Amino acid sequence: MSQASRADQVKIVEVGPRDGLQNEKQPISFEQRKDFILDLMQTGLKNIEVGSCVSAKWVPQMARSDELFAALPQQPDIHLSLLTPNIKGFDAALAVGCKEVAVFTAASESFTQKNINCSIAESLDKFAEIMHKAKQYNVKVRGYVSCMVDCPYEGAIDPRQVAKVSKQLFDMGCYEISLGDTIGTATPDRVKQVWQACLSEMDSQFLAGHFHNTYGMAVANTYQSLEQGIRIFDASLAGLGGCPYAKGASGNVATEDLYYLLSRMGLATGIDEAALMRASQNISAVLQRKNPSNFAQAYAQQC
Ligand code: HMG
Ligand code: MG
Repeated sequence: MSQASRADQVKIVEVGPRDGLQNEKQPISFEQRKDFILDLMQTGLKNIEVGSCVSAKWVPQMARSDELFAALPQQPDIHLSLLTPNIKGFDAALAVGCKEVAVFTAASESFTQKNINCSIAESLDKFAEIMHKAKQYNVKVRGYVSCMVDCPYEGAIDPRQVAKVSKQLFDMGCYEISLGDTIGTATPDRVKQVWQACLSEMDSQFLAGHFHNTYGMAVANTYQSLEQGIRIFDASLAGLGGCPYAKGASGNVATEDLYYLLSRMGLATGIDEAALMRASQNISAVLQRKNPSNFAQAYAQQC
């Protein structure tokens, strides 16, 4: 894609079925997860993270994500992906024909230990093994770096450390690096510092923003990121989400609110508004709670 057209288009990675549901307190059935994804596939969203191949003892809500992937219709223009922390997870994804996975580490040692039970360096070793096999089987690998500004255990993280880990993932072969404001404490000034550090290492086309909305800053942080040239954002429908190893962290930026910001700024998202709102209403009905998205609330009042 040329720089000119890239400027007007934004890629959204829908992480609701994974980041959203992984932290859900109430049981969500296999069929409900599947229906949620089928709804999302009608919205124009082209990138959907459907689950994670992690230990069900660690994250029970994500059990059977490989089976879930296998139960979904494959459409050439919709990229369905799975989160994989190690080769066991990667093999599970590969066995069901998954062509895109995401590996995940952090810029904080403590968070990496709590989240995936190893150091950052050990996580990169595990990913090198995944990367090797991914190349063999033509599987695309995305990389996540959590704690882009703050760690729930260590506090503030040096932007240079975020840039360093991001570059390591990129050099290893991750085609895109998503930086996570895991606990949603980021503010636009700090987000700008992180992007500036990362942009000295790699081009904006390889970087994505993953903003949790604990303090209501996710839209502001998205706007700051757009100003810095970032054009890829992760989001969860109905603002679902949180990390089981980041206490108090709330959901991702709601896809509805991200869509509102981008579309009203004249940026192309490919989203069908009515279909997005149908999916939004359906998952809110399943979870039986009010949708925190401002756009979803305003839309419901107008209809
Ligand atoms: P471990 O205990 O160190 O792993 O856990 P192990 O290799 O010693 O194996 C222990 C057991 O787990 C064994 O089973 C393995 O077979 C099993 P047992 O013999 O005891 O019955 N096991 C697995 N089972 C299924 N799938 C696998 C797998 N690997 C081992 N892939 C492990 C290491 C990574 C598995 C564990 O720490 C884990 O599952 N952690 C969950 C991490 C997670 O899902 N966190 C949330 C997602 S990350 C996130 O939300 C942040 C993000 O959104 C960005 C942001 O917001 O910042 C991405
Ligand atoms: Mg997250």
